[in-house]
Amino acid sequence: MNDFPRFRGRRLRQTARLRNLVQETRLTPDRLVLPLFVVPGQGIREPVGSMPGVERVSVDELARDGAEAAELGLGGVILFGIPESKDAEGTGAWVEDGIVQRGLRALRAEVPDLLLVSDVCLCEYTDHGHCGLLDGGGEVRNDATLELLARTAVSHARAGADVVAPSDMMDGRVGAIREALDSEGMEQVPILSYAAKYASAFYGPFRDAADSTPSHGDRRGYQMDPANAREALREVEADLLEGADMVMVKPALAYLDIIRQVRDSVDVPVAAYHVSGEYAAVMAAAERGWLDGPRAMTEALASIHRAGADIILTYWAREFARQEGRSRG
Ligand code: PBG
Repeated sequence: MNDFPRFRGRRLRQTARLRNLVQETRLTPDRLVLPLFVVPGQGIREPVGSMPGVERVSVDELARDGAEAAELGLGGVILFGIPESKDAEGTGAWVEDGIVQRGLRALRAEVPDLLLVSDVCLCEYTDHGHCGLLDGGGEVRNDATLELLARTAVSHARAGADVVAPSDMMDGRVGAIREALDSEGMEQVPILSYAAKYASAFYGPFRDAADSTPSHGDRRGYQMDPANAREALREVEADLLEGADMVMVKPALAYLDIIRQVRDSVDVPVAAYHVSGEYAAVMAAAERGWLDGPRAMTEALASIHRAGADIILTYWAREFARQEGRSRG
């Protein structure tokens, strides 16, 4: 029975050295993008209740977080803004001195080596909380919204964004943004499109942090149905045809199959967003002592990377990098 070679999985698991040698995928901090929330005011650092470890900070404090992200070797940061005031058109999204624009300029000036991504959407800036302009019946108008999204992307790029990331899910926005950037001489600014973005319950804590819960209805008229997979591939294909340089799947953990299918069907870099609710669920369980938070987080991120995400947006980015630093000594 023992006279021919047999597979024994445990042979290669005996020591840390062997396990490292045969590890199939390895996530490093330079593939992680940390979301940052910027608010008006001075000297502000307010913790987000539903997201332990996450704070909303004013522009003057932002550079400190950016510098830390750069020091930890993170892939970059993605900026979200909470404006002073909101209106029906989401004016705060695209004005020259908008909160994200100011945040980008501060980071650009003070942390020159940090990669800056900006989230392009109207929902944090509209008083109704939807991602576009509304018609008389309260529905989001697609084509009328495109011009404002394009204006937003151009103003972010002007303020110093290295990459713009539209997250609104309007049809045709990637093309509109590409055209606007090109016509302003910004052909070199890449677009990371939230191509397959699902209408998910896992965005709950983010909407707290960004004050962007819709005042009526929900986002199912523009974000995707969680039951659909083929449709994600169509969305990705459409965005690539319009000029997207990278595509994102969001959320991540409940959509690992989508990440894998997208990774297998396109040649561009694929990102996944480990969203607020996915983060908060682990943090809450860890606070109760129900699981080991750092290990659960590392495992979740490993699964997202293994499923095919080249880039991961996560609130755990800093902690991951610190842990990594400690384990390397
Ligand atoms: C929209 C946007 C959302 C998130 C990122 N960009 C919220 C939404 O669609 O409601 C969610 C991110 C998270 O939950 O961590 N601007």
